[in-house]
Amino acid sequence: MDRAPLHLVLLLLLTVTTFPLTLSISPDHFFRPSSAAPKSTLSGLEYKEFFEIIHPLPSDHLKPSCALHIIHHTFANTVNRPPFSTPYSPPSDCPPPWRHVSLEFRANSRGDQYDRISGLWLGGAELLRTSTAEPTESGIFWIVRKDITRYSSLLSKTNINFTIMLENVVNSVYTGVYHVDVTIFFYKDAAVRAPVTGGDHISIFPKDGGFGAKGLYESPADLIIPISSFRDSKGYWFIIERDTDVHFRKLRFPDNTRRAVLELYVSFHGNDEFWYSNPSNNYIRMNNLTTLRGNGAFREVFVTIDGMFVASEVPFPVIFTGGINPLFWEPTVAIGAFDLPTYDFDLTPLLGVLLDGKDHVVGVGVSDGISYWLVDANLHLWLDIGAASVEAKSVVYHNPGSSIKRQEEFRNLDGSFSIKGKRKTQLVGWIKSSAGNFTTTVMHQFKFRSSIRYGKNGNYKQARQDMKSTREVKVMNEMGRLLTRITIKRTYPLKVVTLNLPGTKKDTYMLITNVSHSLIDTYSYGKFSSFVHNKQVANGWMEVKNHDVIAGEAVTNQTLISRDESGCYVRTVAAIGGSLIIDNSTYGCPSFF
Ligand SMILES: *[C@@H]1O[C@H](CO)[C@@H](O)[C@H](O)[C@H]1NC(C)=O
Ligand SMILES: *[C@@H]1O[C@H](CO)[C@@H](O)[C@H](O)[C@H]1NC(C)=O
Ligand SMILES: *[C@@H]1O[C@H](CO)[C@@H](O)[C@H](O)[C@H]1NC(C)=O
Ligand SMILES: *[C@@H]1O[C@H](CO)[C@@H](O)[C@H](O)[C@H]1NC(C)=O
Ligand SMILES: *[C@@H]1O[C@H](CO)[C@@H](O)[C@H](O)[C@H]1NC(C)=O
Ligand SMILES: *[C@@H]1O[C@H](CO)[C@@H](O)[C@H](O)[C@H]1NC(C)=O
Repeated sequence: MDRAPLHLVLLLLLTVTTFPLTLSISPDHFFRPSSAAPKSTLSGLEYKEFFEIIHPLPSDHLKPSCALHIIHHTFANTVNRPPFSTPYSPPSDCPPPWRHVSLEFRANSRGDQYDRISGLWLGGAELLRTSTAEPTESGIFWIVRKDITRYSSLLSKTNINFTIMLENVVNSVYTGVYHVDVTIFFYKDAAVRAPVTGGDHISIFPKDGGFGAKGLYESPADLIIPISSFRDSKGYWFIIERDTDVHFRKLRFPDNTRRAVLELYVSFHGNDEFWYSNPSNNYIRMNNLTTLRGNGAFREVFVTIDGMFVASEVPFPVIFTGGINPLFWEPTVAIGAFDLPTYDFDLTPLLGVLLDGKDHVVGVGVSDGISYWLVDANLHLWLDIGAASVEAKSVVYHNPGSSIKRQEEFRNLDGSFSIKGKRKTQLVGWIKSSAGNFTTTVMHQFKFRSSIRYGKNGNYKQARQDMKSTREVKVMNEMGRLLTRITIKRTYPLKVVTLNLPGTKKDTYMLITNVSHSLIDTYSYGKFSSFVHNKQVANGWMEVKNHDVIAGEAVTNQTLISRDESGCYVRTVAAIGGSLIIDNSTYGCPSFF
């Protein structure tokens, strides 16, 4: 189950199959060898910075009370090796509690290398899922920052392992090694006013982390239980290779659990790296294609408890830096590539079933998934500190299942495929703790649409996807009065167009590639509301030999608008040929937001 060499296997397959049959049917994973790189990526002698555009962290303008440099490690030929672990204890000069905690992941690399996936765990619970940027001959670096305040209970523990997995291949072709430093910053102080950078808006960072950091986390949980693989020899993630691969972890819930949220970490690779553009198996079979990227363009990551379905999500289609056209992702990587989105499921209404003092089995799987997915989860539990146990009952479990309609129509290599899916689940349960008797109602629904169209004898491909997910958590007291309502809506439209044309040389081909995608989140909690609107549009072309990009042009534009109770942050970036031509940011929304 070695992951990194998959690219090598693909390369071999490609050289023995005839063009264009296999090439045209999927977006692909490429790399930019320095020997043939377009000029722009070679210019400059200094290490160039890559970045993902995110909302500034609540702690960005604070001075940390202390810093713990936990990882300083080089990932060279680490394929099939266990992850790197080092002991962790909180710094003695600033014991818990903390106002904020943030994690900083710094990496640099030079040479030739594919993008790689990486996971960071503390005591087996995942803190960050990130992918690497593809280096250049002159070197690149990047910094990922994440608010990890929600993991405070884990961060308070002593003598646990901090673990990082980053499988890399280094040989005569792939020369890029990744040098990684991870530092954890602890903040004792409360947030302060941020500097105002123009506009009439006064910005104050929110108390509990900006949007996205908050989610369903009112305050950090008292206990975090990893739903991850016990053997850390391959990393703590579960490796899911097919539909029927459901991985389990058995655990007992503390009797005084009053609230439970499951946080899911997900990434997709190999034949499912571009699952959102995979055609049906009929199409592959009828055209005698050799590709293994099939099963259609719909995937649902699901969670079971004692074998019963309890939650699921269609994940956000993260594009890694070698994906579709690597020239797009320099210096701004695709949305989520450095900090993959996670998915929170409020399981509080199920506590009536889970608090019976017996073992329960939490499972994760991917419906229609093919090799391979890396999935694990953290179970965040809030306890009734004032009581040895709480009384709970699950009242409603409503899950009529998902409805999925698939249509396909094709003749030879041309045709169209569409999938419409939806699901709605509802859970209701009450908990009587020392704070009172509260009823929690959790509703989750999604609507999903995908369409794939092939033309020009399979050389033109357009893949579109639309996903809308709505979650609502309501808490009522015994009198039936509504105390809390949290609504989280996520939308992520995607469009990928590729056109295959003959190259300028016998053994090359041209790919015209266009990508546009967004991640739109809105969050409301009582009178408080916030949103994030993050959109990228990238157009370009490249000339390819095997999987090597030997020439090309790319324009990538991105706008992030995020607004919360503290104010608004807008950043607009445009990059041409890997150079930023616009990078404007401001604390203050345009008047129409
Ligand atoms: C931490 O990691 C080391 C090395 O992999 C291992 O020997 C040790 O058992 C781990 N400790 C814990 C608490 O998991
Ligand atoms: C696929 O292979 C079969 C058997 O070799 C052959 O009869 C058929 O014509 C092929 N179809 C296409 C579209 O090439
Ligand atoms: C808690 O409240 C629910 C709904 O109001 C009620 O049905 C249940 O009997 C209450 N439980 C206790 C132990 O009072
Ligand atoms: C890609 O986008 C550009 C600019 O919008 C457009 O001119 C071009 O036709 C698109 N290419 C394809 C293959 O759709
Ligand atoms: C990207 O931004 C540049 C600079 O503002 C603009 O000229 C170009 O039209 C934009 N391209 C797309 C595809 O939005
Ligand atoms: C971006 O900044 C430049 C220079 O600072 C300014 O000329 C331009 O108008 C700004 N563009 C936007 C869209 O704010």
